[in-house]
Amino acid sequence: MKKIGLQELSETISFLKNNINGFMPEIGVILGTGLSKLAHQIDVKHTISYEEIPHFPVSTVESHAGRLLFGELFGKKVVAMQGRFHYYEGYTLQQITFPVRVMHNLGIQMLFVSNAAGAVNLNFKKASLMLITDHINLLMDNPLIGPNVDEWGSRFPDMSEPYDADLNEYFRKTANELNLTLHEGVYTAMSGPTLETKAEYRLLATLGTDAVGMSTVPEVIVANHIGLPTAAISVLTDECDPDNLVPVTLEEIIEIAGVAEGKLVSLLEGVFKKI
Ligand code: HPA
Repeated sequence: MKKIGLQELSETISFLKNNINGFMPEIGVILGTGLSKLAHQIDVKHTISYEEIPHFPVSTVESHAGRLLFGELFGKKVVAMQGRFHYYEGYTLQQITFPVRVMHNLGIQMLFVSNAAGAVNLNFKKASLMLITDHINLLMDNPLIGPNVDEWGSRFPDMSEPYDADLNEYFRKTANELNLTLHEGVYTAMSGPTLETKAEYRLLATLGTDAVGMSTVPEVIVANHIGLPTAAISVLTDECDPDNLVPVTLEEIIEIAGVAEGKLVSLLEGVFKKI
């Protein structure tokens, strides 16, 4: 397994600092599948492809562009990951979450994560948004397995509140002002790349899952390890109803994510103006 430690992090940070001309991001944003409109709202000052960045994995999924964008979004200085890494691509969870450590080291004080997810809670319809208030890690792996780097965080990070209560409140308030439905619930991470069987959707519902996807949880675990306040939104792209399950394709997931994305952009705009 490729080791990622303090030395690698410091090499990556030096490289990035040499390429962003003193730019100091305050907020990190991870953009999920099919969520590119948000990237277009960024007044981009610097773009760096993942291939160029030392120790960064390279995204293998075509729907994920694979670059870091540095710029202004709704009046805030951001670093945005346009394209993220997934476990199913064959990376270790340490590799997938390395960008979170990098963004934190560049100075971000909070992290916003988005993803496309399936609605397991059948009261939630596709093309709506869900604020993730808690999660279940069913990846059967954890990005913190291995020797702990004490400079980064504790051996046994507390996970009683993985999603920041104050940030969540900003999302609720903004959704209210915009008259926008914002569901709340539990996100469960599965490894993928298969979507779930009917029996698995039944299991997930029994476990208390409201939305299911293939990302986010590793990044949020690492954000908690380093004490970085985090909020996350799922864009619900399909309804995981085991009794009436229809086949879903990536194209449909991307299409529905695109339909719902305008709402996510308005929501983030409102939140950014409050923080
Ligand atoms: N599972 C089911 N539906 C989905 C997923 C998933 O991981 N991601 C987006 N829609």
